[in-house]
Amino acid sequence: MTPLLDTEFVFALTNPGSEKALKLEIDHQWLDWRLSYQRRGFVTFKTDGKFSLSSLDQPLACARRLCLSLGKAATREQAVALIGPGLPIHFARFHERKMVGLPQADPSARPALGQVIGTVVELSPTEFWAGLHRHAPFLSPDPAGDSGTEMPPHSPSRAWLKLEEARRFFDLKFTPHDCVVELGCAPGGVVLALLDRGVPVIGVDPAKMAAVVMDSAIAEREDGKPGQPWFFHSRKPAALTSKRDLGTGVTWFMSDMNQSPEVVLKECSRFCKMAPSIRGVLITLKLTDLLQVSEKSQWLAALSEMGFHTVRLQQLSVHHKEFALLGLKPRGKD
Ligand SMILES: C[S@@+](CC[C@H](N)C(=O)[O-])C[C@H]1O[C@@H](n2cnc3c(N)ncnc32)[C@H](O)[C@@H]1O
Repeated sequence: MTPLLDTEFVFALTNPGSEKALKLEIDHQWLDWRLSYQRRGFVTFKTDGKFSLSSLDQPLACARRLCLSLGKAATREQAVALIGPGLPIHFARFHERKMVGLPQADPSARPALGQVIGTVVELSPTEFWAGLHRHAPFLSPDPAGDSGTEMPPHSPSRAWLKLEEARRFFDLKFTPHDCVVELGCAPGGVVLALLDRGVPVIGVDPAKMAAVVMDSAIAEREDGKPGQPWFFHSRKPAALTSKRDLGTGVTWFMSDMNQSPEVVLKECSRFCKMAPSIRGVLITLKLTDLLQVSEKSQWLAALSEMGFHTVRLQQLSVHHKEFALLGLKPRGKD
Protein backbone atom coordinates (compact mmCIF):
# COMPACT_ATOMS: atom_id res chain seq x y z
CA MET A 1 0.00 0.00 0.00
CA THR A 2 1.42 3.41 -0.94
CA PRO A 3 0.07 6.16 1.28
CA LEU A 4 -0.87 9.19 -0.80
CA LEU A 5 -0.32 11.97 1.59
CA ASP A 6 0.57 15.56 1.95
CA THR A 7 2.12 17.02 5.04
CA GLU A 8 3.40 20.40 6.14
CA PHE A 9 6.68 18.96 7.41
CA VAL A 10 9.75 17.16 6.14
CA PHE A 11 12.71 15.96 8.16
CA ALA A 12 16.31 15.52 7.14
CA LEU A 13 18.93 13.24 8.66
CA THR A 14 22.40 14.75 8.53
CA ASN A 15 25.87 14.26 9.82
CA PRO A 16 25.99 15.97 13.23
CA GLY A 17 27.49 19.42 12.61
CA SER A 18 26.00 19.73 9.11
CA GLU A 19 22.64 21.16 10.21
CA LYS A 20 23.63 24.81 9.60
CA ALA A 21 25.07 23.96 6.18
CA LEU A 22 21.81 22.18 5.29
CA LYS A 23 19.80 25.29 6.16
CA LEU A 24 22.14 27.42 4.05
CA GLU A 25 21.85 24.97 1.16
CA ILE A 26 18.05 25.17 1.34
CA ASP A 27 18.17 28.99 1.34
CA HIS A 28 20.46 28.95 -1.69
CA GLN A 29 18.07 26.68 -3.57
CA TRP A 30 15.27 29.23 -2.99
CA LEU A 31 13.16 26.61 -1.31
CA ASP A 32 10.25 27.91 0.69
CA TRP A 33 11.18 25.64 3.61
CA ARG A 34 11.35 27.13 7.10
CA LEU A 35 13.23 25.60 9.99
CA SER A 36 10.78 24.06 12.42
CA TYR A 37 12.74 21.92 14.88
CA GLN A 38 16.32 20.80 15.22
CA ARG A 39 18.41 18.25 17.11
CA ARG A 40 21.91 16.97 16.34
CA GLY A 41 21.67 15.13 13.02
CA PHE A 42 17.92 15.80 12.67
CA VAL A 43 16.24 18.88 11.21
CA THR A 44 12.57 19.43 10.37
CA PHE A 45 11.25 22.02 7.94
CA LYS A 46 7.78 23.46 7.40
CA THR A 47 6.18 24.90 4.31
CA ASP A 48 3.14 27.14 3.86
CA GLY A 49 1.72 24.76 1.28
CA LYS A 50 2.02 20.99 1.47
CA PHE A 51 4.91 18.62 0.94
CA SER A 52 4.35 15.49 -1.12
CA LEU A 53 6.67 12.61 -2.02
CA SER A 54 7.79 14.62 -5.09
CA SER A 55 9.04 17.41 -2.81
CA LEU A 56 11.73 14.94 -1.73
CA ASP A 57 13.20 14.80 -5.26
CA GLN A 58 15.17 17.92 -4.33
CA PRO A 59 18.82 16.80 -4.17
CA LEU A 60 20.27 18.16 -0.92
CA ALA A 61 23.97 17.51 -0.34
CA CYS A 62 23.75 17.87 3.45
CA ALA A 63 20.79 15.49 3.88
CA ARG A 64 21.66 11.80 3.91
CA ARG A 65 17.94 11.07 4.06
CA LEU A 66 14.97 13.34 3.47
CA CYS A 67 11.49 12.17 4.57
CA LEU A 68 7.95 13.45 4.69
CA SER A 69 7.36 13.76 8.39
CA LEU A 70 4.47 11.75 9.82
CA GLY A 71 5.09 13.14 13.29
CA LYS A 72 6.58 12.42 16.67
CA ALA A 73 5.89 9.49 19.02
CA ALA A 74 6.93 8.48 22.51
CA THR A 75 7.80 4.88 21.63
CA ARG A 76 9.16 2.98 18.68
CA GLU A 77 5.91 0.99 18.37
CA GLN A 78 3.87 4.19 18.16
CA ALA A 79 6.21 5.56 15.49
CA VAL A 80 5.87 2.32 13.49
CA ALA A 81 2.08 2.63 13.80
CA LEU A 82 2.25 6.14 12.28
CA ILE A 83 3.77 4.60 9.16
CA GLY A 84 1.07 2.00 8.97
CA PRO A 85 1.13 -1.55 7.60
CA GLY A 86 2.62 -2.91 4.40
CA LEU A 87 5.77 -0.81 3.99
CA PRO A 88 9.39 -1.72 4.64
CA ILE A 89 10.77 0.30 7.54
CA HIS A 90 14.27 1.65 8.09
CA PHE A 91 15.37 2.28 11.66
CA ALA A 92 17.84 4.99 12.63
CA ARG A 93 19.02 6.48 15.89
CA PHE A 94 21.28 9.10 17.31
CA HIS A 95 24.00 7.06 18.95
CA GLU A 96 27.51 7.93 20.13
CA ARG A 97 27.20 11.43 18.62
CA LYS A 98 26.28 10.07 15.20
CA MET A 99 23.08 9.54 13.23
CA VAL A 100 23.36 5.84 12.47
CA GLY A 101 21.23 3.44 10.50
CA LEU A 102 20.38 0.09 12.04
CA PRO A 103 21.60 -2.81 9.88
CA GLN A 104 19.04 -4.48 7.64
CA ALA A 105 18.50 -8.23 7.40
CA ASP A 106 20.22 -8.30 3.98
CA PRO A 107 22.83 -5.51 4.00
CA SER A 108 23.51 -5.79 0.25
CA ALA A 109 19.85 -5.50 -0.84
CA ARG A 110 18.66 -2.34 -2.64
CA PRO A 111 15.02 -1.24 -2.69
CA ALA A 112 13.32 -1.15 -6.09
CA LEU A 113 13.13 2.30 -7.68
CA GLY A 114 9.83 3.93 -6.64
CA GLN A 115 9.49 1.80 -3.50
CA VAL A 116 8.04 3.84 -0.61
CA ILE A 117 9.92 3.22 2.62
CA GLY A 118 9.16 4.21 6.18
CA THR A 119 11.82 5.54 8.53
CA VAL A 120 11.68 5.53 12.33
CA VAL A 121 14.28 7.74 14.00
CA GLU A 122 15.07 7.43 17.69
CA LEU A 123 16.45 10.70 19.04
CA SER A 124 16.15 9.71 22.71
CA PRO A 125 14.47 6.84 24.64
CA THR A 126 11.23 8.86 24.61
CA GLU A 127 11.47 10.72 21.30
CA PHE A 128 10.82 8.92 18.03
CA TRP A 129 9.94 10.35 14.64
CA ALA A 130 8.27 8.62 11.71
CA GLY A 131 8.71 9.50 8.07
CA LEU A 132 8.40 8.29 4.51
CA HIS A 133 10.52 8.57 1.38
CA ARG A 134 10.49 7.02 -2.07
CA HIS A 135 13.59 5.22 -3.34
CA ALA A 136 15.10 6.90 -6.40
CA PRO A 137 18.39 6.87 -8.32
CA PHE A 138 21.31 8.32 -6.36
CA LEU A 139 19.58 7.87 -3.02
CA SER A 140 21.15 5.68 -0.39
CA PRO A 141 19.47 2.25 -0.10
CA ASP A 142 20.39 2.13 3.58
CA PRO A 143 18.66 3.34 6.76
CA ALA A 144 19.63 6.96 7.45
CA GLY A 145 21.92 6.87 4.40
CA ASP A 146 24.44 4.91 6.42
CA SER A 147 25.67 1.60 5.04
CA GLY A 148 27.47 0.66 8.24
CA THR A 149 30.35 -0.67 6.12
CA GLU A 150 33.42 -1.41 8.19
CA MET A 151 36.96 -0.86 7.04
CA PRO A 152 39.01 -4.04 6.64
CA PRO A 153 42.20 -4.27 8.73
CA HIS A 154 44.45 -4.34 5.64
CA SER A 155 43.34 -0.88 4.47
CA PRO A 156 46.05 1.76 4.88
CA SER A 157 43.57 4.66 5.24
CA ARG A 158 39.94 5.66 5.92
CA ALA A 159 39.65 6.70 2.28
CA TRP A 160 38.76 3.03 1.66
CA LEU A 161 35.48 3.70 3.51
CA LYS A 162 34.76 6.86 1.51
CA LEU A 163 35.04 5.00 -1.77
CA GLU A 164 32.95 2.06 -0.58
CA GLU A 165 30.29 4.33 0.96
CA ALA A 166 30.03 6.38 -2.25
CA ARG A 167 29.82 3.21 -4.35
CA ARG A 168 26.96 1.91 -2.22
CA PHE A 169 25.15 5.27 -1.88
CA PHE A 170 25.15 6.09 -5.61
CA ASP A 171 24.99 2.45 -6.81
CA LEU A 172 28.22 2.77 -8.79
CA LYS A 173 29.63 -0.24 -10.60
CA PHE A 174 33.38 -0.64 -11.03
CA THR A 175 34.60 -3.59 -13.07
CA PRO A 176 37.97 -4.91 -14.27
CA HIS A 177 37.15 -3.21 -17.60
CA ASP A 178 37.39 0.18 -15.93
CA CYS A 179 40.61 2.03 -15.36
CA VAL A 180 40.65 4.67 -12.63
CA VAL A 181 43.02 7.60 -12.23
CA GLU A 182 43.11 8.86 -8.65
CA LEU A 183 44.78 12.16 -7.70
CA GLY A 184 46.01 12.17 -4.11
CA CYS A 185 46.21 8.39 -3.85
CA ALA A 186 48.69 7.91 -0.96
CA PRO A 187 48.81 5.85 1.21
CA GLY A 188 46.25 3.87 -0.82
CA GLY A 189 42.88 3.11 0.82
CA VAL A 190 40.92 3.95 -2.34
CA VAL A 191 43.43 2.15 -4.55
CA LEU A 192 43.13 -0.95 -2.37
CA ALA A 193 39.31 -0.89 -2.51
CA LEU A 194 39.49 -0.72 -6.32
CA LEU A 195 42.20 -3.38 -6.67
CA ASP A 196 40.15 -5.68 -4.44
CA ARG A 197 37.33 -5.26 -6.99
CA GLY A 198 39.71 -6.17 -9.81
CA VAL A 199 39.97 -2.58 -11.08
CA PRO A 200 43.32 -1.23 -12.40
CA VAL A 201 44.39 2.15 -11.00
CA ILE A 202 46.78 4.92 -11.99
CA GLY A 203 47.56 6.77 -8.79
CA VAL A 204 49.01 10.28 -8.78
CA ASP A 205 50.70 11.49 -5.59
CA PRO A 206 54.24 12.54 -4.64
CA ALA A 207 53.82 10.68 -1.32
CA LYS A 208 54.72 7.07 -0.58
CA MET A 209 52.20 4.26 -1.03
CA ALA A 210 51.54 1.44 1.45
CA ALA A 211 53.18 -1.92 0.79
CA VAL A 212 49.79 -3.66 0.50
CA VAL A 213 49.14 -1.57 -2.63
CA MET A 214 52.69 -1.67 -4.01
CA ASP A 215 52.37 -5.48 -4.14
CA SER A 216 50.24 -4.89 -7.29
CA ALA A 217 52.48 -2.14 -8.72
CA ILE A 218 53.77 -2.13 -12.28
CA ALA A 219 56.94 -0.20 -13.17
CA GLU A 220 55.70 1.43 -16.40
CA ARG A 221 52.22 2.46 -17.48
CA GLU A 222 52.67 0.41 -20.67
CA ASP A 223 53.00 -2.75 -18.54
CA GLY A 224 49.35 -2.47 -17.42
CA LYS A 225 47.21 -5.06 -19.18
CA PRO A 226 43.51 -4.31 -19.68
CA GLY A 227 41.13 -6.25 -17.43
CA GLN A 228 43.70 -6.93 -14.70
CA PRO A 229 44.07 -5.28 -11.30
CA TRP A 230 47.39 -3.43 -11.45
CA PHE A 231 48.58 -0.19 -9.87
CA PHE A 232 50.78 2.39 -11.56
CA HIS A 233 52.19 5.05 -9.25
CA SER A 234 52.79 8.36 -11.01
CA ARG A 235 54.82 9.78 -8.15
CA LYS A 236 54.47 13.49 -8.79
CA PRO A 237 51.99 16.33 -8.25
CA ALA A 238 48.82 16.27 -10.32
CA ALA A 239 49.84 19.39 -12.28
CA LEU A 240 52.92 17.58 -13.66
CA THR A 241 50.97 14.55 -14.90
CA SER A 242 50.81 14.23 -18.68
CA LYS A 243 48.85 12.29 -21.25
CA ARG A 244 51.72 9.78 -21.40
CA ASP A 245 51.26 8.89 -17.68
CA LEU A 246 47.59 8.12 -18.33
CA GLY A 247 47.93 6.05 -21.51
CA THR A 248 44.61 5.05 -23.05
CA GLY A 249 41.39 3.60 -21.67
CA VAL A 250 40.96 5.60 -18.44
CA THR A 251 37.23 5.47 -17.57
CA TRP A 252 37.05 7.15 -14.14
CA PHE A 253 38.62 10.27 -12.63
CA MET A 254 38.85 10.36 -8.84
CA SER A 255 40.46 12.84 -6.52
CA ASP A 256 41.12 12.79 -2.81
CA MET A 257 43.75 15.56 -2.87
CA ASN A 258 43.73 17.90 0.08
CA GLN A 259 43.41 20.91 -2.20
CA SER A 260 40.69 23.50 -2.67
CA PRO A 261 37.65 22.68 -4.84
CA GLU A 262 38.94 25.17 -7.45
CA VAL A 263 42.31 23.37 -7.79
CA VAL A 264 40.67 19.93 -7.91
CA LEU A 265 38.09 20.96 -10.52
CA LYS A 266 40.77 22.61 -12.66
CA GLU A 267 42.77 19.37 -12.62
CA CYS A 268 39.60 17.36 -13.29
CA SER A 269 38.94 19.42 -16.41
CA ARG A 270 42.56 19.00 -17.60
CA PHE A 271 42.50 15.23 -17.00
CA CYS A 272 39.16 14.86 -18.82
CA LYS A 273 40.71 16.61 -21.82
CA MET A 274 43.81 14.37 -21.67
CA ALA A 275 41.63 11.24 -21.33
CA PRO A 276 38.33 11.72 -23.23
CA SER A 277 37.38 8.11 -22.40
CA ILE A 278 36.63 9.25 -18.81
CA ARG A 279 32.90 8.66 -18.23
CA GLY A 280 32.70 9.12 -14.48
CA VAL A 281 34.11 11.48 -11.89
CA LEU A 282 34.12 10.91 -8.14
CA ILE A 283 35.79 13.61 -6.11
CA THR A 284 36.10 14.04 -2.37
CA LEU A 285 35.85 17.81 -1.97
CA LYS A 286 37.63 18.91 1.18
CA LEU A 287 36.39 22.13 2.69
CA THR A 288 37.69 24.41 5.40
CA ASP A 289 34.09 25.18 6.37
CA LEU A 290 30.92 23.23 5.51
CA LEU A 291 29.19 26.54 4.76
CA GLN A 292 31.16 26.50 1.51
CA VAL A 293 28.23 24.36 0.37
CA SER A 294 26.87 27.72 -0.82
CA GLU A 295 29.26 27.23 -3.79
CA LYS A 296 27.52 23.99 -4.74
CA SER A 297 25.95 25.30 -7.95
CA GLN A 298 29.39 26.38 -9.23
CA TRP A 299 30.89 22.92 -8.59
CA LEU A 300 27.98 21.18 -10.30
CA ALA A 301 28.12 23.63 -13.21
CA ALA A 302 31.85 22.98 -13.63
CA LEU A 303 31.17 19.24 -14.07
CA SER A 304 28.27 19.93 -16.45
CA GLU A 305 30.57 22.09 -18.58
CA MET A 306 32.95 19.12 -18.79
CA GLY A 307 30.12 17.08 -20.35
CA PHE A 308 28.81 15.20 -17.30
CA HIS A 309 25.03 14.88 -17.63
CA THR A 310 24.29 13.58 -14.15
CA VAL A 311 25.90 15.60 -11.38
CA ARG A 312 25.42 15.22 -7.64
CA LEU A 313 26.92 16.61 -4.46
CA GLN A 314 26.42 14.48 -1.37
CA GLN A 315 27.72 14.29 2.14
CA LEU A 316 28.27 10.70 3.20
CA SER A 317 28.06 9.28 6.71
CA VAL A 318 31.85 8.77 6.75
CA HIS A 319 32.59 12.39 5.81
CA HIS A 320 33.66 15.19 8.11
CA LYS A 321 34.23 18.54 6.35
CA GLU A 322 33.81 16.82 3.01
CA PHE A 323 31.41 16.11 0.19
CA ALA A 324 31.39 13.53 -2.58
CA LEU A 325 31.04 15.20 -5.99
CA LEU A 326 29.82 12.81 -8.66
CA GLY A 327 29.62 13.27 -12.42
CA LEU A 328 28.41 10.64 -14.90
CA LYS A 329 28.20 10.52 -18.67
CA PRO A 330 25.59 8.27 -20.26
CA ARG A 331 26.95 4.73 -20.62
CA GLY A 332 27.69 3.54 -24.13
CA LYS A 333 27.73 -0.12 -25.05
CA ASP A 334 29.84 -2.13 -22.54
C1 LIG B 1 43.82 12.37 2.34
S1 LIG B 1 45.27 11.96 1.51
C2 LIG B 1 44.67 10.82 0.32
C3 LIG B 1 44.28 9.47 0.84
C4 LIG B 1 44.22 8.46 -0.28
N1 LIG B 1 43.22 8.76 -1.29
C5 LIG B 1 44.00 7.06 0.20
O1 LIG B 1 43.13 6.38 -0.39
O2 LIG B 1 44.67 6.61 1.10
C6 LIG B 1 45.58 13.35 0.52
C7 LIG B 1 46.74 13.16 -0.43
O3 LIG B 1 46.70 14.21 -1.39
C8 LIG B 1 48.01 14.35 -1.84
N2 LIG B 1 48.12 15.61 -2.60
C9 LIG B 1 47.97 16.88 -2.16
N3 LIG B 1 48.18 17.74 -3.18
C10 LIG B 1 48.46 17.00 -4.27
C11 LIG B 1 48.76 17.32 -5.63
N4 LIG B 1 48.82 18.58 -6.05
N5 LIG B 1 49.00 16.31 -6.50
C12 LIG B 1 48.92 15.02 -6.07
N6 LIG B 1 48.64 14.66 -4.80
C13 LIG B 1 48.42 15.63 -3.92
C14 LIG B 1 48.84 14.32 -0.56
O4 LIG B 1 50.19 13.99 -0.85
C15 LIG B 1 48.12 13.24 0.23
O5 LIG B 1 48.76 11.98 0.10
